[in-house]
Parts: sequence; C-alpha cells; structure tokens
Amino acid sequence: MQIIDGKKIASEIKLEIANEVREIISKGQRAPCLAAILAGNDPASETYVNSKAKDCSEVGFTSKIYRFDEQVTENELINKIKEINADDNIDGLIVQLPLPEHISESNILLAVDYKKDVDGFHPQNAGRLMLGLPTYVSATPCGIVELFARYNIETSGKNCVVIGRSNIVGRPVANLLSQRTTPGDCTVTICHSRTKKLKEICANADIIIAALGVAEFLQADMVKDGAVVIDVGITRTKKQNGKYKLTGDVKFDEVAPKCSYITPVPGGVGPMTRIALLKNTLKAAKKEIYK
Ligand code: GUN
Repeated sequence: MQIIDGKKIASEIKLEIANEVREIISKGQRAPCLAAILAGNDPASETYVNSKAKDCSEVGFTSKIYRFDEQVTENELINKIKEINADDNIDGLIVQLPLPEHISESNILLAVDYKKDVDGFHPQNAGRLMLGLPTYVSATPCGIVELFARYNIETSGKNCVVIGRSNIVGRPVANLLSQRTTPGDCTVTICHSRTKKLKEICANADIIIAALGVAEFLQADMVKDGAVVIDVGITRTKKQNGKYKLTGDVKFDEVAPKCSYITPVPGGVGPMTRIALLKNTLKAAKKEIYK
C-alpha cells in the first residue's frame, strides 16, 4: 500500500510554477495576477482566500483580495466583477463561495469573464471540460487527475466509482476520467444518495473517488483488495480535547491496508486543489486557452 502524498506533489508543482514565473518575468513581462472576491464573514472562506493569496506570493504571482461585508448587494458585486473583467493587469478572478444568502450564486458566476474564470465554474469552461476541450479544470478534479499522473497510476480500462454528483467535484472528475486521455479511459459509475447496492458497486471498483462529504463513509467491506482510493472529504470534527480535526469520507485505518494507493486526509487531495488555481492562473496569464 502506498500513501499518495499530495502535500509533497503540491510543493513540487509549486516549484515548477515558480520557475515558469521567473522565466516570464525575465522576458520583461509582468507576474501573473489573481483577484479574489470575498463577501461576508465566513471564517472558513477567509482562511481559504488568505491561503490562496499566500500560495500566489510563494510562486511569484501577485494577488488582490476585494472584501465586501455580508450586506453587499448583487449589483455591487457585479460592478466589481465587471471592473476586474476589464482590467488587463488581472489574469484570473475567483469569487469565494458560499456567498451571502440573498445573492444569486449563478448570477455572480455568470458575470465573471470566462477567460478569467480560473475556478472553472462558468458554463463555458464547465461545458468545454465536458467536450474534452482545453479549459480551466476546477480545483478538485484537476488535483485528482494530477495525482494519478504524477504517481503513474494506471487508469485505462479500470472500473472507477465516483461517490458524489456535485457540479464541482463528482461529475467533472467522472467526466475527465471517462475521456480518451491519460489519465482517463476509465469505465466510470457515478453514485449518489439514491444509488441502490452502493456497497456492491464500490466493492467491484478498481478506483473509488469518495466525494460525498460524509465523514468515514467508505468502510473496508466496500473496498476490494488492491483498489485505489481517493478521499475528497474534509469534515471538521471535534476531538475529545475540544480541538478540531479534518476527517475524510474514508475510514482510513481500516481501508488503507486493502489499497494499492490511498490519499490521506489531510495531506492528500486538499493541497492539490490549491495548486489547480495556480495552474489555471498561469494558463490565463499565458493566454493558453483563450487568446
Ligand atoms: N468554496 C469552496 N471551494 C471553492 C472553490 O474551489 N472556489 C471558490 N471560489 N469557492 C469555493
């Protein structure tokens, strides 16, 4: 059994990106620039946005955070998005989710210029992913596929079960892994809360991607010997000493001994999701997808 070290791979990729940024700057061009909009006071969102800004500075990008209070109007946010869309010195724009309840998430995400949509949430980019066209792949699917690539994990012809059908994880990762690509060429089954015989379906899988958001859902009797298990879950649970810890969707201690490869939580998929944003911002700066 090999533990997939997402933290290590993420640091390696950061060095690669930092080298590319140095090259860009040595040619006299400006550093890639990411803008983030944060509305409201969600502490988790605050942490995420600050981590993203820190990642940017570590690879030599510049970044800007635009903060709005909980009472911000949809119009105010859209005006800021339009301003950033029109700013040639900003390559990528993310709007941190969740938004305050009175704001329409889809109106906001649609307002982001798809050429700057480095989260890959705009229908243009999500649609291009579905068609197998070059696009900004959203963070978690991008991170998972990168782990398969970096660990040379064979995916061709494998039965892959994805548990969870969200727009930003389950369905895009299922789509990517079913494409005629490497990694890819999987036979993919998407399972969800209405799936019947989930245990049997999982027990037949060569690869399981657990992305349903239920702590320790995947247990040993649902996993066949030699399976590859990718854990996307990050549930914050309180320990006996009152401190919080992150728990994945996989009951790691009992599942890990059966696996050929498994991602831990934390330190597996999580660090890779942050890399995706850097990769996409670099692509935006280089105008790799859209001229
Ligand atoms: N909230 C939780 N995950 C994400 C993400 O990947 N991007 C944005 N913008 N918000 C999030």
